[in-house]
Amino acid sequence: MVTATQPGQQVKIGPTRLLINNEWVESISDRRFETINPATGEVICEVAEADAADVDKAVKAARAAFNGEWSKISATRRGELIYKLADLIEQNIDELARLETLDNGKPLQDSLDDLGLVIACYRYYAGWADKVQGKTIPINGPYFCYTRHEPVGVVGQIIPWNFPLLMQAWKLAPALATGNTVVLKTAEQTPLSALRVGELIIEAGFPPGVVNILSGYGPTAGAAIARHMDIDKVAFTGSTEVGHLIMEAAAKSNLKRVTLELGGKSPNIVFADADMDAAIAGSHDAIFFNQGQCCCAGSRLFVEEKCYDEFVARTVERAKQRVVGNPFDANTEQGPQVDKDQFDKVMSYIESGMREGAQMLCGGNRVGEQGFFIAPTVFADVRDDMKIAQEEIFGPVMSIIKFKDLDEVIQRANATMYGLAAAVWTKDITKAHAIANNLRAGTVWVNCYDVFDAAAPFGGFKQSGIGRELGEYGLQQYTEIKTVTIKL
Ligand code: NAI
Ligand code: MG
Repeated sequence: MVTATQPGQQVKIGPTRLLINNEWVESISDRRFETINPATGEVICEVAEADAADVDKAVKAARAAFNGEWSKISATRRGELIYKLADLIEQNIDELARLETLDNGKPLQDSLDDLGLVIACYRYYAGWADKVQGKTIPINGPYFCYTRHEPVGVVGQIIPWNFPLLMQAWKLAPALATGNTVVLKTAEQTPLSALRVGELIIEAGFPPGVVNILSGYGPTAGAAIARHMDIDKVAFTGSTEVGHLIMEAAAKSNLKRVTLELGGKSPNIVFADADMDAAIAGSHDAIFFNQGQCCCAGSRLFVEEKCYDEFVARTVERAKQRVVGNPFDANTEQGPQVDKDQFDKVMSYIESGMREGAQMLCGGNRVGEQGFFIAPTVFADVRDDMKIAQEEIFGPVMSIIKFKDLDEVIQRANATMYGLAAAVWTKDITKAHAIANNLRAGTVWVNCYDVFDAAAPFGGFKQSGIGRELGEYGLQQYTEIKTVTIKL
């Protein structure tokens, strides 16, 4: 095992090869790629690079496990294995958090918070494993009719880099609880933490082939999963652009089931009657949390005219205080963007905001000489038709938009191709319900933001996705319903 050094810190790297059939293997091509530390731009290590041939090998292992040993294991035992995995993750929480921070750049405390949700997610679905059941149905005639909820089969899962461990948990936990086998591809920017969890999966006692973990790129390994003829379902989290490609590949191959969790441009609406301290703090976190790299970031901040000037002034003060720096420092609130591509993309949106005449009140610049840090940036007087109000920036850039009244803000908030999340800050219960009922979004938060729980479903309306993850609803995406009718 290699170790890398952060100023004063040791981080254990863990496995760097592919996990196929409970074995650590090099890729068939023998190719490897570098993963970098976004806080410094330095190479951490190389990992094996999967391509179509490795996907094929992993699918064969997953199919053999699905038809063999895994299908004979009881639902209760599946639950026990997932509980065991949660325990092992908990026992290694500090090591995993440090690895996540090294590879992704998020502040260490944020990695630890993610891990709290990771552990809760595995435990939540472990509990479901032996509680997934069908119905008996009183059909007409001398028949006995019932349904069985069977696993879909071999599931391909493609995850992004913004929450590597958490996205792995959201994908693996419901799939395993319902008896599927998995080929999971991590994002090329952040392969390391998922591989370390792979080691814990073996230690927990999952049979060979049940979970296979591949590092690799999207257009190669990812596309091979999406078009594979022996994968029964693909679950994807990432950009809306790639979501379209996944669905197209599924349509052109074997009509595998598709669930998608995609981008967003979520409206966060502040009324003048809100608790202003809570609204300012909450709106700050809504956009700046995780370096702004959240699918559900509150990236269109609508503020009522009556409180606009006060809100903007205080929000800018808060943004200026945000601590940006070494993600291993305890007081750091914001680390680097995940890589140079994301850094460049965010900077180009900042330029476009200035070009289109939004008022930049703070930030807009790079922080430090190394790594991919961007100063918390606030734009006010943003118009609905500006690029920064329409497209997903995925960075620490707040866009504040003025509004007059309830009906107007509902209409403007809905004028987007996205529909992932929304929030409203108000003490008026009638306004809160009007927003909750009328916004076309998969999640609406009232007087809070980014409240996640393994029991509460999450997913998108419109082009923010298809299907739901988490909660009981999340299980439905991993089972096929079989109707059995018996003549009496
Ligand atoms: P992406 O959608 O390209 O990458 C996400 C995952 O999809 C990665 O594992 C990647 O390897 C894989 N992938 C890429 N192309 C693929 C293909 N043709 N077939 C199958 N899999 C493929 O996102 P990227 O390029 O990392 O970021 C671009 C933008 O996407 C971001 O700036 C952000 O706006 C958005 N994004 C949204 C996320 C979310 O949580 N909804 C997560 C990551 C990115
Ligand atoms: Mg991409």
